[in-house]
Formats: sequence, C-alpha cells, structure tokens
Amino acid sequence: MNIIAPSILAADFSKLGEECLDVLEKGAQWIHFDVMDGHFVPNISVGIPVLASLSKAVPDAFYDVHLMIDDPVTYSPDFAAAGADLITFHLEAPCDTMAAIEKIRALGCRVGLALKPGTPAEEIYPYLPLVDMALVMTVEPGFGGQKFMADMCPKVAAIKARALELDLAELIIQVDGGIAPSTAPQVAAAGANCFVAGSSVFGAADRRAAISDMQKA
Ligand code: DX5
Ligand code: ZN
Repeated sequence: MNIIAPSILAADFSKLGEECLDVLEKGAQWIHFDVMDGHFVPNISVGIPVLASLSKAVPDAFYDVHLMIDDPVTYSPDFAAAGADLITFHLEAPCDTMAAIEKIRALGCRVGLALKPGTPAEEIYPYLPLVDMALVMTVEPGFGGQKFMADMCPKVAAIKARALELDLAELIIQVDGGIAPSTAPQVAAAGANCFVAGSSVFGAADRRAAISDMQKA
C-alpha cells in the first residue's frame, strides 16, 4: 500500500494538532515532521518540544521525523522520547552513518536514510539492508513549496532495483519535495511507495481529494 505523509511545514502551526487530525481523518497514513537546524540546511523549523506536544495532542499518529540536522546521533534520543516512530537522517550529515543507524534502532524507532539530489544512488546501497526506508529528496532540502525535480526518478528506480536484488521487498522508498497529484505518478512508476506532500495537501482546497488522488498514483 502507498503511504501518504503530509509535511507539517505547510500546516498552520498555530493549530498544528487540529491540522494533523484533519489530514489523518482525510486519508493520510503518516505525519511527516521536518526538523531543520540552520546548519545542515539554511533554514530553521521546529524541534523536540513541538513534537512532544503534538504527539500528546494526537497520540495515535505515526510520526515520520525527517532530521535535516548535522548531529542525529546526539538528538535522536530526544526525538524518540518526544514520540517519533521513524527517524530519518541524511547520508550527507557530518556524522558516523553506522553509529546513527544503530542509535536510532536501539531507541526502538524505525530508521530512514535520506539522499540530497546531488548524492548518487550508489552511496546508499551499502546501507539498504540496515534501514527501513530510503528517502530520495526531489528538491534541495530546506524549504517547502519548491518545484519537483523529475530527474530524480532514475535514482528512485535504481534504489528500487537494488533493493529487489538484495531481496529487500519491504524497504520503503519515500520521495519528498514538490509531490502532488500531478507529479506522484512519475515517482510511483519509478518505484516510490511513500509520498511526502506539504503544500499540495495542506494547501489544497479539497485535502481529501488531494490525498486520494496521490493514493491512486
Ligand atoms: C523540504 C522538506 C519537505 C517539504 C515538502 O526540505 O523536507 O518535507 O516540506 O514540502 P512540499 O511538499 O511543499 O514540497
Ligand atoms: Zn521532509
């Protein structure tokens, strides 16, 4: 089944709990929680206290936490304690990738590993058997509302092919950035099965239709 994960970056933060309940009620599977530290990406979003409050207000949601930060090893325990179900960090982060995977796993969370657009697919291959999800960024991380990069589709297809060669049928392949009912079919055809969508869900006049259109992709 495809997973639709609306990104909180496009939600109204003054009523974040209600916003998340709304998209879940309208068919979304996960909540994608974008964390930016002003170092790994040139922007700052939200962090641990906001996730802790949100996960108390909306306890049944699955929190897919996307860490766009330099130091996932130090901060992942705090995100786990705040309610993260899955923690994704970047292969490009200046940290020990294996240590971060092991740390997140030991916290009882699922593990995701993300690639920026400039990072070749091959760099994630050694880690595929160790993670639950590969995240292929379809924009440069840092900001919502950017244009989808269709040239990332071959990277999705390459990771999907490699996962099948490695007998990793369960590996989730997530795409993030500029995903909408108009762009989701391309990445779905390439092998993605988890779709992060900020503006195209929270900004839609009919959120239910936006989510179900992407599901159909
Ligand atoms: C970008 C974030 C995305 C972003 C997606 O750095 O990781 O999750 O919020 O937003 P849209 O769907 O608007 O491109
Ligand atoms: Zn994200």
